[in-house]
Amino acid sequence: MKPVKVGLMGLGTVGTGVVRIVEGHQADLQSQVASPIEIAKILVKDASKSRSVVVDASKLTEDPWELVRDEEIDIIVEVMGGVGATKELLLEALERGKHIVTANKDLMALHGQEILAKAKEKGCDVFYEASVAGGIPIIRTLIEGFSSDRITKIMGIVNGTTNYILTKMSQEGADYQDVLKEAQALGYAEADPTSDVEGLDAARKMTILSTLGFRANVALEDVDVRGISAVTQEDIRYAHQLGCEIKLLGIAERQDDYISVSVQPTLVRRSHPIASVNGVFNAVYVHGEAVGETMFYGPGAGEMPTATSIVADLVAVVKNMKLGVNGRQSSLSYKEKKLKTDEQ
Ligand code: NAP
Ligand code: HSE
Repeated sequence: MKPVKVGLMGLGTVGTGVVRIVEGHQADLQSQVASPIEIAKILVKDASKSRSVVVDASKLTEDPWELVRDEEIDIIVEVMGGVGATKELLLEALERGKHIVTANKDLMALHGQEILAKAKEKGCDVFYEASVAGGIPIIRTLIEGFSSDRITKIMGIVNGTTNYILTKMSQEGADYQDVLKEAQALGYAEADPTSDVEGLDAARKMTILSTLGFRANVALEDVDVRGISAVTQEDIRYAHQLGCEIKLLGIAERQDDYISVSVQPTLVRRSHPIASVNGVFNAVYVHGEAVGETMFYGPGAGEMPTATSIVADLVAVVKNMKLGVNGRQSSLSYKEKKLKTDEQ
């Protein structure tokens, strides 16, 4: 059986998990797609670095174009991060007919429409389940699970690092800077954790969720953002006195043709289920006119949960390849609808 060849861009926290799952679950993956899945080349910044997973050294490269130009590679899994140069690489990969799986919310929130338009033009898949809420399949759920409904509200904790920090500050009186360092060591934080603690990572995720959920064009600059860097132990004590926890909540609401999206530290009553979402866990509430309230809960960051979403996307792409239906997934772009935001 001819293997499906994957070019893996990045062998850090998420890339390592992808290698572990593709190797560890190979028989189960093959039984679903009827082909071996082979990680043929791996892009890293420093090929001489010691790794926590064993990979064939001859597969490592520091040249990103080597993966893009390799005609044998069918699918690029992008888990290295970055926006400008990464976008150019992925657009060229699509130009050459390669499918993309990515965990890159920065890229998808800012340039998702351009990338998906190129994918459509070339008949390629671009799947990005891991870009929001790590191991929770929320993107697939919004696109497919609620296709019959009109979603009016999406609310939740969509950043694991800040929830980990707030939980430790609340439950253990831990110091903000110390817990941030822990979250970095655990592989939860972004390369520059400013985007986690200042709410930008959550804002990017809310841009993606509200665009998909409301089937409207929501731009990152439409999101009101405030992070947790100013939250003190004193704030948390006051919250406790009021019977509340402080959580970094993303809230996206739609009323008729009006949409508002925000990310901010919020007082949540302890009796509300979201107050008990602790550590790196995320939770997303979706309210639909027909279905009412639903909630999705799971690990929002980290090696194996995020890699689970990546490899599920990989399986979806290979199934589409077998059926010859790549490039037909829902888009992040809904040009036909012009909805008002706070800015208008
Ligand atoms: P990471 O641990 O910092 O790993 C990044 C990997 O990419 C490293 O292997 C690095 O090479 C390689 N790399 C980075 N820039 C490169 C460049 N310019 N050229 C070649 N290789 C380069 O990052 P991560 O935590 O795995 O995150 C990767 C992506 O997944 C990001 O977009 C992030 O936002 C997203 N994500 C992360 C999580 C999570 O829990 N960590 C969850 C969801 C989504 P070296 O190893 O040689 O340094
Ligand atoms: N830095 C992100 C977080 C990774 O903490 O949620 C998962 O997207």
